[in-house]
Amino acid sequence: MIILGIESSCDDTSIALLRDGRDILSLQTQSQFEVHEQYGGIVPELASRSHVMNILPLLEKALTEAQIQIQDIDAIAVTKGPGLIGSLLVGLSFAKALAFSLKKPLIGVHHIEGHLMASFLGDKIPKFPFLGFVTSGGHTHLYKVENLSDIQAIAWSIDDAAGEAFDKGAKLLGLGFPGGPLIDRLSQSGDPSFVQFPRPMPHSEHFSFSGLKTSLATWIQKHGIPKDAQTLSNVAASYQEAIVDSLISKLKKAITKTRINNLVLCGGVAANSRLRSKLDSCMNSMKVELFLSPLKLCTDNAAMIACAGFHRLQRGEYSELTLDATPYIPLHVES
Ligand code: KG4
Ligand code: ZN
Repeated sequence: MIILGIESSCDDTSIALLRDGRDILSLQTQSQFEVHEQYGGIVPELASRSHVMNILPLLEKALTEAQIQIQDIDAIAVTKGPGLIGSLLVGLSFAKALAFSLKKPLIGVHHIEGHLMASFLGDKIPKFPFLGFVTSGGHTHLYKVENLSDIQAIAWSIDDAAGEAFDKGAKLLGLGFPGGPLIDRLSQSGDPSFVQFPRPMPHSEHFSFSGLKTSLATWIQKHGIPKDAQTLSNVAASYQEAIVDSLISKLKKAITKTRINNLVLCGGVAANSRLRSKLDSCMNSMKVELFLSPLKLCTDNAAMIACAGFHRLQRGEYSELTLDATPYIPLHVES
């Protein structure tokens, strides 16, 4: 069975062809970095227009790489939300038109469910029940996943998401956008104990990052943006360490509380090298099995959407052609 996956919820246009829920025949992602870079953030209208320009050439490239015809596609999975409404509508309208003309099923996928399902495309397939931690630019959500029909949020950020903390921190340090990969790279030569930034809300099971961002802003107000490269790396590493420590301490709390010994890490921030290595050794010592999303599938991509679509279709679930895009929908799946 070949599923066409379409993801256009934010600033990356992505098309994937996935065979039998496991083999990525082609994954084509077009970044819009150059479109938005000069504005220091994503401009929604420009994102929608870029999706319109990118989507058809990406599908053609994917079909060529996979060496299949469009008629060989068995179903179409598309992100229905949450995300930027204009961007979502481009992918969804494209998917509906294809489903209608090819007479194939359409499957609307929740973007966060897609991130969780990226871990099913790694070498080690997650075991149920697991705690699914989605940490990205828009979400810092921990889910209890009994099975794919029973997913419940148990902790979340009360203000900024972890990815937002990376992006805003990088902006304060004058590094550019998106901040996560830039801080990650810079931190590799930095001393994480150089500045003791606070670990927010240590006693709560939920996450919070806006106070940490303010601490960095206050530090910069006092000392200025470091001019020498080593000090800049030290400050970036200290800031990253506070985010990583905060994430890990909440995960440890949830594991102790739920007694679930399988943890899935996914979403853009899951690409962070410090988070991956620190979490790996911490989970080892707690005898918790860690399932990391493959690095190239942490950030937004259509393979994860195709994978979620495959599993929904296996359960006999698909969408009507009247499906609408929704900018905000909480993920709560219960059979
Ligand atoms: O999942 P994603 O591609 O889009 C959303 O659904 O939000 O995540 C993007 C976020 C951005 O905030 C970006 O800075 C962050 O993921 N990110 C990282 C790294 N790579 C991407 N954060 C920390 N370290 C990284 N290596
Ligand atoms: Zn995402």
